[in-house]
Amino acid sequence: MSNFDASLNDCPISKLSDTYYFSNEQLEELFRRARKQKAISFLPDVGYWAVTKYADTKEILSNKKIFSAEITQEPLIPYSPEVLDLFIARGFGPRPTLSNNEREDHARIRLNTLVGFSPARNKKLEPYIRKLVNDAVDTFLPNKRADLLAEMLYELPALVLFKLLGIPENDVDDIKMWSDSRLVLSFGKPNLQQQLQAGNHICDYWDYCVHLVEQRLDKPQDDLPSDLIRTRNGDDAILEVIDIVNIVYGLLFAGHETTTNMSSNAVLTLLQHEGSWKAITKEPELIPNAVEECMRFRSSVVAWRRMVKEDVEIDGVKLTAGDRIMLFLPSANRDEARFEDSEVFDIHRKEARRHVAFGFGRHVCLGAALARLELKIILEELSTRLPGLRLVQDQSLMPVEAVQFRGPEELWVEWD
Ligand code: HEM
Repeated sequence: MSNFDASLNDCPISKLSDTYYFSNEQLEELFRRARKQKAISFLPDVGYWAVTKYADTKEILSNKKIFSAEITQEPLIPYSPEVLDLFIARGFGPRPTLSNNEREDHARIRLNTLVGFSPARNKKLEPYIRKLVNDAVDTFLPNKRADLLAEMLYELPALVLFKLLGIPENDVDDIKMWSDSRLVLSFGKPNLQQQLQAGNHICDYWDYCVHLVEQRLDKPQDDLPSDLIRTRNGDDAILEVIDIVNIVYGLLFAGHETTTNMSSNAVLTLLQHEGSWKAITKEPELIPNAVEECMRFRSSVVAWRRMVKEDVEIDGVKLTAGDRIMLFLPSANRDEARFEDSEVFDIHRKEARRHVAFGFGRHVCLGAALARLELKIILEELSTRLPGLRLVQDQSLMPVEAVQFRGPEELWVEWD
């Protein structure tokens, strides 16, 4: 690893785990100071180099010769040996397929997976997404107030994924439990017993994915796994069956918390900027650009990772092979060198879509179109049905406990 002299480290983000407890505004101020001081600085508590600027972020995300994505799925705190033994014993075997796949076959697998995210597939999901939003509104409407997160935004992206993956409603509770366990294991602070329980749940979900794909091989249906099986057409050179299992396994995690947090951040930000909320209630055609500006202004994926493959220098700092980098996407999206008046929230901003909240380059988010659709529908339906929506005053708005993702733990809103 590169030589690191602690006395020279003036990075305002001195301890990553402390950022759990920061409000959005505090974190945003921290990033602003970090961008001013240095393009890159070391985070001793996790052993990563922090990158906060837009141009460096794009270069690192897209330069595959020097920077590898192979570490993106690693837990920040390594699994205990007992959990690793459990994984071996239960034959838990995901292999790098999409986000952490740096083999040559990534491009082929990605290309052949696109069919599952086609405009046609998204169009089929649209009425279902609208119904989910409206059913939730119908339920809480008489109460005059709601925790939008608990009563709508937490479940919605998961239910959309279940529909996309063809998971029957009867299995939904199990899957939710398994998915929560993965979060606990990767980003929480579980004791050994909790780790083993979560480890078992993750293995249960893996077994479930294997079984689901086997069923679809037997009897294809109208869902993403069947789309991939049809594309494969029995040819391993197109997609191997194990690739499809890995894709099904990975999508639940890729598309749930990311979208839950982003939709809460979007509603929160629009309500904190009352004029913007009013504008979208009057002119719904502003919503697609408002979605982009919300993603730029308050991205839900806070940190995304890369590893250095070849020695390289960034802003005078020499990095060597094996060094780890944490890209702070929300900071890149507020970089004053890229966006004019970058700290101003402006739903009319022309270049809002240039944000890197979905990443950039060969690994750019595969579910971006679906996520954009979900965000658009949530804002369309909410602003139509509850135009007078406002935030409940004096709520804590504490973020979820995870350094890589950010969204409020609760989001209380009210209306007359
Ligand atoms: C607002 C919600 C979302 C955000 C903010 C988000 C963000 C991201 C980011 C930052 C990456 C890494 C890109 C890179 O390394 O350059 C990524 C990759 C990915 N995302 Fe998303 N995502 C969202 C929703 C979704 C959804 C709904 C799905 C699927 C249903 C999904 C599937 C994926 C996949 C498969 C990849 C890996 C692509 C590859 O490596 O080829 N995401 N996403």
